[in-house]
Amino acid sequence: MKRYHLTTFGCQMNEHDSERMKGMLESLGYREAPGREEADLILFNTCSIRESADNRFVAHLGEAKRLKTENPERVVGVGGCWSQSMKERVFERFPFVDVAFGPGQIPKLAEFLTSDSLTAQGYFEFEGFSGHLPMKRTREFQGWVQISVGCNCRCAYCIVPSTRGREVSRPPDELVAEVERLAADGVREVTLLGQNVNSYGRDLRGEGRASFAELLARVDAVEGIDRIRYTSPHPKDMREDVVRAHAELGALCEHIHLPLQSGSSRILKAMRRTYDRGRYLDRVALIREHVPDCALTTDIIVGFPGETEADFEDTLAVVEEVGYDSAFTFVFSPRRETEAAELKGQLSHAVKRERMDRLVEAVQRRASERAQRFVGRTMEVLVEGPSRKDPDRLRGRTRHNKTVHFAAEPGAAPAPGELAEVEIVSATSTTLAGEAKMLAAAR
Ligand code: SAH
Ligand code: SF4
Ligand code: F3S
Repeated sequence: MKRYHLTTFGCQMNEHDSERMKGMLESLGYREAPGREEADLILFNTCSIRESADNRFVAHLGEAKRLKTENPERVVGVGGCWSQSMKERVFERFPFVDVAFGPGQIPKLAEFLTSDSLTAQGYFEFEGFSGHLPMKRTREFQGWVQISVGCNCRCAYCIVPSTRGREVSRPPDELVAEVERLAADGVREVTLLGQNVNSYGRDLRGEGRASFAELLARVDAVEGIDRIRYTSPHPKDMREDVVRAHAELGALCEHIHLPLQSGSSRILKAMRRTYDRGRYLDRVALIREHVPDCALTTDIIVGFPGETEADFEDTLAVVEEVGYDSAFTFVFSPRRETEAAELKGQLSHAVKRERMDRLVEAVQRRASERAQRFVGRTMEVLVEGPSRKDPDRLRGRTRHNKTVHFAAEPGAAPAPGELAEVEIVSATSTTLAGEAKMLAAAR
């Protein structure tokens, strides 16, 4: 029996693609190896969103090279966004790689493995959603559903449009059927994935068309699904119907990840985000109006070319005003073949670092203040397993997407995948702590 080892870098799309890769390999008779040393097939699912992602991966690839030299029978494969952005250059730079493929070409890996080909192969076409593959889920009770692939936006800093191609939505009937299968298989929480979920469906034609809000309602109606999440919406396309859905649909969680990127309208324009600070804050106001308690999280980039101290202060001001429950903060990283990499006004590392420190301070302080609203409340927690820090406690997530570490009566501890009612006793910027009251009823 052949064994594979797969390392995943990057976002949830890649994690989901890896589940599909694993399912496909297992259907070919491969089993997962505990480490690269034991593997006949060494695979990487790569990311290229920032330079640090490239570097991390290339360091791992060194080990694959060593193992391949020890045993030339081993197959080394590189999939994902880095691979797509390098195309045939993968083989020039790393001649020991046997197969390279982009995110849309996962099934081609099976084709390669089952053919007798001894020459290295690259597969980099864009073909929309890459077909139905069995998936091997990391968690039994949580599932991802890819609602669209690709991205039609042209954010000046971003490599994704060139690694994932044009946006293609999957038909709603197909998606609902997939969610039904997941629910029948024990999944209680689904996360709908797309680079811009709000533009979902715009490319669909004919009878089977649905908007994102309509899709949410159909997924909400699937029996057994207690929680729905999605990522990411784009502020330019976030409409009232989707915001209202958060108030109206029982399973749709009280959490919206609304990427800001910058609080300066000037920088947003240079980024080609096609909204300005005012429009963004309007979306926030709309969310707060319909779902006052909604958790808001975001992505922010500091040090975009030409960002002045005043621009950066605009970003800080939005952070202060919105009070995010958490934020992913990134230092701008020039990416190959993107517009922003060529712009004048690239900032020094020292300036980016200094702004990043101030941003993180503001984000954490506001997140910690915001989190205090949960203290004293009893909240529904989807149990994920034992707490990593303290195995006597359990860990789970609230509908607001906050991690909770909590104690439960010995003998009455809820199992992973169950919903528990937990009384929150304290809160930091990142986690909540509490005590389990009882099991919550399924919705
Ligand atoms: N499609 C999603 C995000 C995909 S990338 C969206 O638009 O929200 C995730 C995040 O990485 C982005 O939101 C952005 O904040 C960050 N990012 C992307 N390219 C970057 C770059 N070149 N440098 C720094 N951060 C970047
Ligand atoms: Fe990148 Fe912008 Fe598309 Fe997100 S919306 S994937 S940031 S181009
Ligand atoms: Fe995701 Fe990285 Fe590609 S963030 S879409 S795996 S470049």
